[in-house]
Amino acid sequence: MRVAAIIAAAGSGSRLGAGVPKQLLEIGGRTLLERSIDAFRSHPLVGEVIVALSPHVPPPGSIEGIRIVSGGARRQDSVANAFDAIREDAEIVLIHDAARPFVSADVITRTIEAAAAHGAAIAAVAAVDTVKRVDAGNSIVETLPREEIYLAQTPQAFRREILARAIELGRSGVEGTDEAALAERAGHRVQVVSGEGSNVKITTASDLEAARERERVGSTVSRVGVGYDLHRLVEGRPLLLGGVNVPAEKGAFGHSDADVVCHAVTDAILGAARAGDIGQHFPDTDPRWKGASSTLLLEEAVRIVRAAGWTVDNVDVVVVLERPKLAPHRAEMEARLAAAIGIPEGAVSVKAKTNEGVDAVGRGEAVAAHAVALVRGVR
Ligand code: CTP
Ligand code: MG
Repeated sequence: MRVAAIIAAAGSGSRLGAGVPKQLLEIGGRTLLERSIDAFRSHPLVGEVIVALSPHVPPPGSIEGIRIVSGGARRQDSVANAFDAIREDAEIVLIHDAARPFVSADVITRTIEAAAAHGAAIAAVAAVDTVKRVDAGNSIVETLPREEIYLAQTPQAFRREILARAIELGRSGVEGTDEAALAERAGHRVQVVSGEGSNVKITTASDLEAARERERVGSTVSRVGVGYDLHRLVEGRPLLLGGVNVPAEKGAFGHSDADVVCHAVTDAILGAARAGDIGQHFPDTDPRWKGASSTLLLEEAVRIVRAAGWTVDNVDVVVVLERPKLAPHRAEMEARLAAAIGIPEGAVSVKAKTNEGVDAVGRGEAVAAHAVALVRGVR
């Protein structure tokens, strides 16, 4: 079965009013035209793609594997021009509006198969709202039975000879907003196959805005990171945890202020963004970081991760410490961490555990912290 696809892309986009034809506008870095062309160019059943473009519109970036013809004054004229250019041996001809950039391979396949079986088929979706017919004064004339109502999309597919007759009818003066209407007028039965809600037509500026927003949300990914740190406890040192100076018999020993909570959180955030680790960014051999507070390192790590396009969603910490009890300091630790990271306090949780007397931590010789962080970004 040889299949040709016509992309109708010669409109001016007057209702969208962008000053350029809407098919040249981008959604997520690709124009509507490129998206529509690629859906057909990459489809395994489609052997030929012809694009009807207005003569003053620049052709799309890559014209490999497509042919371009000049569009006409109306959509049906553009399709007729493209139809004249398809190869003689095409058996099924698909027509698609460039203004529907989200068409899926499945919908294309369904439409082709139904056209092969029935001669003519269009993608359409069942009406979900109750449908009213109104008169010129907006009074309801009748309520149509909803189960009989379908909203037409593209692609629309036809056996070549059926489309030829539909186009002939169009050339003889009959108007149709889609090829199915012309085929119906020519007396052919046209089958409906399931379209998709996502196969929207971009008509107005708000359609474009909504599509851009969906694309942005759809490509937002979350990444999780884990961090861990441990420091020995010795007498004569402060015990800093999450930037809070906790009164204790022993404090944490280390080059820095030895704040295991800040270190674990810093590594979790860097790890979530795959942005290295604390030792790589803040080597203790670098005088810039010598004596720097760990809260400052945490703030710097957040800057690094933000610069890479990530925002921190939340952080959760477990501190493992035999004594003292940390419950009285939890809220303050959470508040300080949240301030350093620049997220709401409600997005930071600190929990404490003892090690049940087991190992060095259990004997009170060390303090440890585990942290996880979730970051989000558009990828
Ligand atoms: N189209 C075409 N040739 C025309 C008019 C329209 O190929 N003379 C194409 C459009 O480029 C679009 C599809 O037909 O991909 C559906 O038309 P529509 O959504 O109405 O697009 P425009 O005509 O560009 O928009 P408007 O009606 O707001 O000017
Ligand atoms: Mg139009």
